[in-house]
Amino acid sequence: MTLSIIDNLFLLNALVARVTAASAPSSRVSVSVNPHIQFQEVDGFGASQAFQRAEDIFGEYGLPAINQTLVLNLLYDEDFGAGFTILRNGIGSSNSSESNFMNSIEPTNPGVPGAKPHYTWDHYNSGQFPLAQQAYKRGLQTLYADAWSAPGYMKTNDDENNGGYLCGVTNEPCASGNWMQAYADYLVQYARFYQESGVRVTHLGFLNEPQFAATYAGMLSNGTQAADFVHVLAKTIKKSGLDLKINCCDGIGWDDQEAMLPGLQAGPDPAIDYIDAVTGHGYDSAPTYPLSTNKKTWLTEWADLSGGYTPFTFYDNGGPGEGMTWANHIQVSMRDAGTSAFLYWIGAENSTSNSALINLINNEVQPSKRFWAFAQFSKFVRPGARRIEAYSSNANVTVSSFKNYNGVIATQLLNQGDADVEISVQIGGLKSGVPIQPFITNNEYDLERLTPIKSAKDGFFQAQIPAWSMVSFVAV
Ligand SMILES: *[C@@H]1O[C@H](CO)[C@@H](O)[C@H](O)[C@H]1NC(C)=O
Ligand SMILES: *[C@@H]1O[C@H](CO)[C@@H](O)[C@H](O)[C@H]1NC(C)=O
Ligand SMILES: *[C@@H]1O[C@H](CO)[C@@H](O)[C@H](O)[C@H]1NC(C)=O
Ligand SMILES: *[C@@H]1O[C@H](CO)[C@@H](O)[C@H](O)[C@H]1NC(C)=O
Ligand SMILES: *[C@@H]1O[C@H](CO)[C@@H](O)[C@H](O)[C@H]1NC(C)=O
Repeated sequence: MTLSIIDNLFLLNALVARVTAASAPSSRVSVSVNPHIQFQEVDGFGASQAFQRAEDIFGEYGLPAINQTLVLNLLYDEDFGAGFTILRNGIGSSNSSESNFMNSIEPTNPGVPGAKPHYTWDHYNSGQFPLAQQAYKRGLQTLYADAWSAPGYMKTNDDENNGGYLCGVTNEPCASGNWMQAYADYLVQYARFYQESGVRVTHLGFLNEPQFAATYAGMLSNGTQAADFVHVLAKTIKKSGLDLKINCCDGIGWDDQEAMLPGLQAGPDPAIDYIDAVTGHGYDSAPTYPLSTNKKTWLTEWADLSGGYTPFTFYDNGGPGEGMTWANHIQVSMRDAGTSAFLYWIGAENSTSNSALINLINNEVQPSKRFWAFAQFSKFVRPGARRIEAYSSNANVTVSSFKNYNGVIATQLLNQGDADVEISVQIGGLKSGVPIQPFITNNEYDLERLTPIKSAKDGFFQAQIPAWSMVSFVAV
């Protein structure tokens, strides 16, 4: 459907009228927000451009310069786009850049673990280095560099692919020796190359989906084996003088990550004490409950990898790639699992699948409805924000709310029902006359700014949310 500008203006005016309607039917949904009851701190939102996807952004398939800038602004610019503050890099283990491989900084086997390593640095890192530079220019705050695997020669199967363990972890010896220290040195050297080139790596990870022997780069580990390596890595970081935090372990599903915790928590000097964030993915099981740890938790990867291509559907039937599906995943993860971060798999790539938030097709930049669902959170819920208590009286109208470090309260309401709803919101402690700025995403609109509302006495305001829509209310 193509609408003229006039049609669009008409629709928008009609919608603004509905969203700001003052009358109060009896079916009104009550939403209450209490900024005095606070939960986890937010670290941010983002995605990865690993496996050479960063090169797609820089024109690998001919994306013109103007649209390279457009996609960077959509991903990382807080005013123009989603303002993502976390980038998850892949630390390569490959000996070449063929296919979509991420090349290693130590492509050649030094022979034995204690031998002097021959590190190489190309200032490119499969496009991820220039991407990190561009992202930092626009407001990135967290660069999580995560290795899918150690180089093959450090592993029990002598291969970066097809599973295998890091030589030297519990019950996994190798004829070539114990490579744990060499791997720790290698990861720290990656961060040092970035640092020396003016880009700060903030977090290091050393596993990706360690429950699963993939045909591509990956490495197996349970919690005990991860703990073995965390101890070595923590000492190595301390000696290096670099300001680096450790994340672990990017389990393939939330339950798989939960299952790694006993190993990380065991012993008189538990590895968990050296970890900043416990990281898990959403594939095999979703983040719907808090992990059994008092550490921060991050959902570091999830995507619809197999559903039909639904880039511009916010809601049709709740399909796995639809915008509302992801708005709900983010809300449940932050609210019910208490995560401090939520990352999709790929930010932007040249493909016609749902595995990225933005598709780059025939020179064009096509943000999906999933992207706008992310932006409804990430633009207004900034690093340092705290989640605050929020309730809704209707099960179809789900709510989450956050108080930013600067005091701005951002509340996300998802109307996951067939009917438009009238809502009556109270934000505790909010003065009367405070401007509330609503933004809407649904099948028709992408993060559309609606007419501001003013809070009344005791922080009350009223609005209407159309069926199958997400509205973020930002109270300045
Ligand atoms: C490079 O890595 C590939 C895949 O792991 C392996 O098959 C190949 O033998 C390696 N080449 C060299 C020169 O080490
Ligand atoms: C992890 O695997 C090792 C080696 O098989 C085993 O000794 C250890 O008990 C396992 N740890 C956990 C927490 O299951
Ligand atoms: C994306 O890649 C395909 C080939 O896989 C190509 O036909 C298409 O033109 C590419 N898109 C862009 C934006 O260059
Ligand atoms: C850039 O992408 C937009 C769509 O996002 C498209 O309309 C425009 O033609 C592209 N620019 C160039 C120079 O190809
Ligand atoms: C929720 O929405 C469904 C579908 O639109 C509807 O059948 C149901 O009555 C709604 N539930 C409530 C509590 O409003």
